[in-house]
Parts: sequence; structure tokens; C-alpha cells
Amino acid sequence: MSIVDVATSPTQNPLSDPAPWWRQAAVYQIYPRSFADSNGDGLGDLPGITSKADYLHELGIDAVWLSPFYPSALADGGYDVADYRDVDPRLGTLTDFNAMLHALHTRGIRVVVDIVPNHTSDQHTWFQEALASERGSAARARYIFREGSGPDGALPPTDWVAAFGGSSWEQVPDGQWYLHSFAIEQPDLNWANPEVRDDFLTTLRFWSDRGVDGFRIDVAHMLTKDLTEPLPSQAQLDALPRDGMHPMVDRDDVHEIYAEWRQVFNSYDPPRTAVAEAWVDKARVPLYASPQGLGQAFNFDLLEADFDAGQFETVVRDNLTLAELSGSSSTWVLSNHDVVRHATRYGLPQPGRDETGRPVRKHGVDWVISGGVSPVLDRPAGERRASAATLFMLGLPGSSYLYQGEELGLHEVAEIPAADRQDPTFFRSAGTDLGRDGCRVPLPWETGSDAGSAFGFGTGGSHLPQPGWFSDYTVAGQALDPASSLELYRSALSLRRMLQTDEQLEWIPTGRSEVLRYRRPNGWEIVTNFGTEPYQVDRDDVLLASRALDAGTLPGEATVWFGDLAAN
Ligand code: NOJ
Repeated sequence: MSIVDVATSPTQNPLSDPAPWWRQAAVYQIYPRSFADSNGDGLGDLPGITSKADYLHELGIDAVWLSPFYPSALADGGYDVADYRDVDPRLGTLTDFNAMLHALHTRGIRVVVDIVPNHTSDQHTWFQEALASERGSAARARYIFREGSGPDGALPPTDWVAAFGGSSWEQVPDGQWYLHSFAIEQPDLNWANPEVRDDFLTTLRFWSDRGVDGFRIDVAHMLTKDLTEPLPSQAQLDALPRDGMHPMVDRDDVHEIYAEWRQVFNSYDPPRTAVAEAWVDKARVPLYASPQGLGQAFNFDLLEADFDAGQFETVVRDNLTLAELSGSSSTWVLSNHDVVRHATRYGLPQPGRDETGRPVRKHGVDWVISGGVSPVLDRPAGERRASAATLFMLGLPGSSYLYQGEELGLHEVAEIPAADRQDPTFFRSAGTDLGRDGCRVPLPWETGSDAGSAFGFGTGGSHLPQPGWFSDYTVAGQALDPASSLELYRSALSLRRMLQTDEQLEWIPTGRSEVLRYRRPNGWEIVTNFGTEPYQVDRDDVLLASRALDAGTLPGEATVWFGDLAAN
């Protein structure tokens, strides 16, 4: 691995840059309960994030996105929010939030928080009120309550299946049923109710007033629903086109909500940003990403692609076209808190694909032998390919979203005993799907782990067990090691900040189907060899490479960046 020596400290606080920062930002996702634990209770917290502000600064990211840190019963890792305008006491206080925001802002790092509008927690005061109120009441009208079907309404209103498995309906003591598209503890809100709409405007203002820079919108495509009776069956829902009129997902009328949110965002200086998590047909992504709406939308296409030149090229071409249509910039993601880490995905035999082209493997279920990591996982290959894919991604125009721990080359943790698992996916699938805990294990900061010290995560253990092999992936063990994944990320992010200018990309033919090469207008050039045969390159102004070049030859499964810093 060859790394040029580049300064990691920006000379100027980028917060003072008037250009829309989000268009080409490197955004680092923090899963707060698993990042750093300041008080030894085994759960990461906001003061823990503050204590790592220098680490984040030296990493060279432009923004952090915090997964939910709100009060929550943790039925879905915090995506079951009990109070949208407070901090979970186990994670800190609003004062801690302010301190964290200040520590990050003074280091030039912006802060994006997660908004979960499709559902609340069943512990939310609104839902508790709904349970205590009678059918037909205003309290129930904030959610989606229906009578059951069958004799005495003893069966759910429909056969709809929730995202985590099982019925989408749960019965309450007086016999009514409520809709939950995700876990039972996540009742869906009724977005036809103006009170719900107003309350979220208040939440957006609450965090914007506090100084947060943007919002990540959870399942942004599911808020509005057409629940006109008779309700369709699951099979009918599945068969309906997703053309904006589907009763449950990606309805055109959801954009009325985001237009209203946009007015709130734009009433701040600088305007607050938002990025939609919207699993919708490609052609409809620009609706979410438009400047009149949320402004940017995730695409998870790289994350779903194999380590394959053809797939990567198609993903980039498609998404740059879509970004142009919306006037937004594209987003790129290789890992997040919902999927098997990319170092591990790429170290496994490539998965089969279903008829829609999606990988059949979900959450790594087919690669884990009970009690241990699959023997077919090739760790070095996974890490090599992950580094190559990351450098490929970081060269692209648009925003790159990084997930905590990927800078360490961290693998998925497969060997979590059933008794320690937390993800509802695991329980609702009766363990046939291992779920997402394996990418949410607390980070290893220090080498050498005394009992309870949890590799420097905190002094009180770790809420998900860390495996012994984490000692090979610690921050302390990698810092200043030029051959480490961490130093590769630091160098890449530092260079990227200097080079990420115009949002254009030009493909350069390589004569080899497994090699991709693209150039940015300032001469920055990225070459990725997805194959295993070395590839001869014709430039020698190497800025960075995931594997060292040998006499002008790029080894297999590697990416090199060329460019002239002096010209930028
Ligand atoms: C998407 C989030 O990324 C995921 O973690 C969560 O379980 C669902 N939305 C439900 O909120």
C-alpha cells in the first residue's frame, strides 16, 4: 500500500465555506450506542462521541450522521423513538448534545440527525394515550387503528406482513388492531392527521434551532397511505404498480409533506439539508432528491453490487444521470448499520441474485455456521476488495456515506450468541435471519483488552460482545501504520477534500472489462482493477493506492489515484 504524506488538518474551518457543503461531502455515520462509552455502562453515548472529536477531525470527514440517540426502549436499535425532542438518558442529556455539537462544529464537522417519521415507539406518550383512549378517539387517530376481520374481529384486518416478519397488525386489549410496518413496538403514524404533521415541523425546528446542519429521513417513502376500505390483500399490494398511487409506498402525496419541510429547512441560514432513505423505483428517486423536497436521496446500488466492474460502472452511470435529473448530487454507500459490512461481503463467495437483480443473501444469513464465522470467509480478500471499492467510491462526484468502523477494515461479527442478540429481525425470523447486530458491535479503539475494558470502547464492557479478533483491527494498532486501513482512509479523505471540485466525471476506456478508469475535470484520475491480473497504467503521478504499484503495474483488486495536487 503506498500512501503519500498529506496534511490531515484543513487550513480553514470548512463551515465557513459558502458552497452547499452536502453536495460532495464525506459523511460518517455514527451508531451512537456502539461508538464510544464515556461512563462505563457498556452503551456508547454522546459524551463518548465528544471525546472522539479529534479522531473524527483527523479522519478528515465533513459531517457525521447520528443514528437515533433519542429516548427509546430499543426494540429496533433506537428507530423506535419515544420522544423526538430529547436524548436517551443512557446516552446523555440535551446539554451533552450541545457540547458534542460544539466540539464537532469547532472542528469543521457538520452534524446530521436521524428523523424517524413513519412510526413512533409504543412507549411514546401519544401511543400510550392511544392505548388508554377509546376507539374512535382523537388519541387513536394519530395512529392507524382498525377493527379486526373474521368472527368477532379476532383476526388481523389484513394479511399484511411486517418488514421484520409476522403480521403488520397487533391487537390491543379492547380488540382493535394497530398497524406497524416494522416491529410490533413501532406503531405507524397517521400522516393524514394534521397534528402529526405539525408535530414533526416542531421537531425539525427544535433540532435546527439547536444548530444541527441536516436530517436523514428514515423510510421517507412510507409516510402517506391510502387506507380506504376494503383494504387490499398482501398479494394485491405486491401486484400493484409503484407509480405514485400505490396504497402503501412511495405515494405522490408524500411530497406535499416534504415541500412543507423544505420551507422549514430554507427558513434557516444556511438552509438545513436532508437526505431521504427511500427504497423506491429508480425513476422516482429524483422526486425525493429535488430542491423543492428533501434535496438528496440515498442510493444503495453500490452497497447491493458485487465487487464487479460491470455492476459498478452501471451503478455510477445510472445514478449520475438520476442526480442530474433532480439537480441534486448523488450519494454513495458501501456499508451502513443495516447490512453486512463490505469487507465481509466481498470476502464471501458472490451471492446469487433474484429476478430483480438483488442479492439473494440478506444480512449474511447464508454464510454463518452456528457459533462462528463461515469457513468460506476470505478475510484478506475481503479487505483488499473493500479498500479498492472505497477508493473507487471516494473519487466519485457526490457525497460518500461511510459507516463507523469501516475505516478500520472491520468485519461483520457473526459469532454473537443468540442470548446477546438485539435485532428484531433475528427474533421475528426465529433466528433464520441473523439480523443486523453483527455490524453494530462496539468499535475497538485500543489494543489489549483488560476484562471489561472492551478494547477501549469503555470501562464497563460492551452491550454486544466483541470477538477476540477485534484486537487486530483497533484504532491504536492502526494509527500511524502506513499499511493500515485507517491510514488509507485518512489519506484518501484528506486528498479528496482538496480534489473534490467540479461534479463531472469522464470514463476512460481501459481495454479490459474488469478495469474501470474515470477522470475528474481537474485531472484527478481513478483506476480500479476488479480482476486479479495486474494492469499496466500509463501515469506515474500516484497520489494514493490501495495496493502498491509495481513498475507502473496496478495489482489485482486494487485502486490507484493519480493527480497533481499543485494544480488544484
Ligand atoms: C431504516 C433503518 O435504517 C433501520 O435500521 C430501521 O430498522 C428501519 N428503517 C425502521 O425504522
